[in-house]
Amino acid sequence: MLQHIKKRIESLAQSIEHRAMVIVPGAGYVYRNLDVDFPFRQFSDFAYLSEWYYPESWWLLKKEGDAVQVVLCCQDSDPAIERWEGKRLTPEAIVALGHADEVIYRQALEPLLKQWLSEVPTVYFPFEKKTQVEALLTDVLDDSNRRPVRPRAYLDVSPILGAQRLYKSEDEIKHMRHACQISAKAHESLMRQVKHKTHEYQLSSLFRDVCFQAGSEHLAYESIVASGENACTLHYRTCRDAIDPNGLILVDAGCEWQGYASDITRTFPANGRFSSEQRDIYQIVLEAQQAVIDLVKPGVGFDALHRKANEVMSQGIQNLGILSSTSYDIKDLFFHGVSHWLGRDVHDPCPYSDQESHPMVLQPGMVITVEPGLYISNQLKEISPDYHSIGVRIEDDVLVTEQGSDVLSKDCCKTIDTIEDIMNS
Ligand code: GLY
Ligand code: MN
Ligand code: MN
Repeated sequence: MLQHIKKRIESLAQSIEHRAMVIVPGAGYVYRNLDVDFPFRQFSDFAYLSEWYYPESWWLLKKEGDAVQVVLCCQDSDPAIERWEGKRLTPEAIVALGHADEVIYRQALEPLLKQWLSEVPTVYFPFEKKTQVEALLTDVLDDSNRRPVRPRAYLDVSPILGAQRLYKSEDEIKHMRHACQISAKAHESLMRQVKHKTHEYQLSSLFRDVCFQAGSEHLAYESIVASGENACTLHYRTCRDAIDPNGLILVDAGCEWQGYASDITRTFPANGRFSSEQRDIYQIVLEAQQAVIDLVKPGVGFDALHRKANEVMSQGIQNLGILSSTSYDIKDLFFHGVSHWLGRDVHDPCPYSDQESHPMVLQPGMVITVEPGLYISNQLKEISPDYHSIGVRIEDDVLVTEQGSDVLSKDCCKTIDTIEDIMNS
């Protein structure tokens, strides 16, 4: 078995009860419309435990004291389907590639589960995949021929895997850095090419193209490309509007590399030059982002990051004098968190508080985003119209190191001067 998978499994086995099993379903094809599926992407926990990127698979572990057995279950061989969809690897070939030490066909899954259920009383599975696991267990438990012992406890394995996934290995960091490098290049292509584009979807398409040309197989999430007032909608999705030539364009987009995400936001003026009002707001957000990045180091609480962003941006807005301090709350302009975990998932499912419900403390190997933003929608009537429809977010991906931090997405330009230079060169 591949060494890094083995390590992850050892860690998981140490965290579960002594006589227990773990069931993790892989992703299936998701139906889109007649005879058409959405692009296949493996579930992140499943990929973390197997690096197996094929559909309709299962991952199982049984622990009895010190004895740990792992079985990967792959699709059955089916020459008729394989003629249409391509050859499927045999269990022997999958073992040889190091995905697991034991691999069985799907048809052998129920008998194996029946046996394991009679041997251990506790079943862990990801509760968010309840429907799939329940369907499988119901089939096994309802078979009256050889009724297995009903499990005495069902436990959620997701928090255990989430806690493991908090710490990235050297290889994982390498993949995330590479994802960031590709995404940085794509963001800069958009800045260079926007003068030839008329609509948001053209930029979205260019971002995807640069990433896919570089070998990425998936975006980490649907790109947000929001021009003018649209930039004030946090998760703007439609991406259909014409580009406002005097407005800002906010692009929140990132690709995956080897199953690991990048998550970068850049905001730039469609016409290549920031207006003085756009500059004012951009500079406040940039200063807040730098202040938060400067804070990142081992021992700092996750909650301190948001406080710092609020503090710098409140002061910046106050200094600008566009809102009287009595009528205004920074939450009106900055209404999302400044940071989240990043990893296989763009919002990596790692814990935000510890066992005592205190905010997590940053440690080397963790990766976070730092993404302050200010959004001055034209609905904010108390603010001068000169500042309306200015939505700015600047987002980078930051590794916590022994010494402090390393910005994985540092290749992507973000100062006003460097953005204007790149747009006008
Ligand atoms: N791309 C989504 C986010 O920044 O959280
Ligand atoms: Mn983010
Ligand atoms: Mn983002």
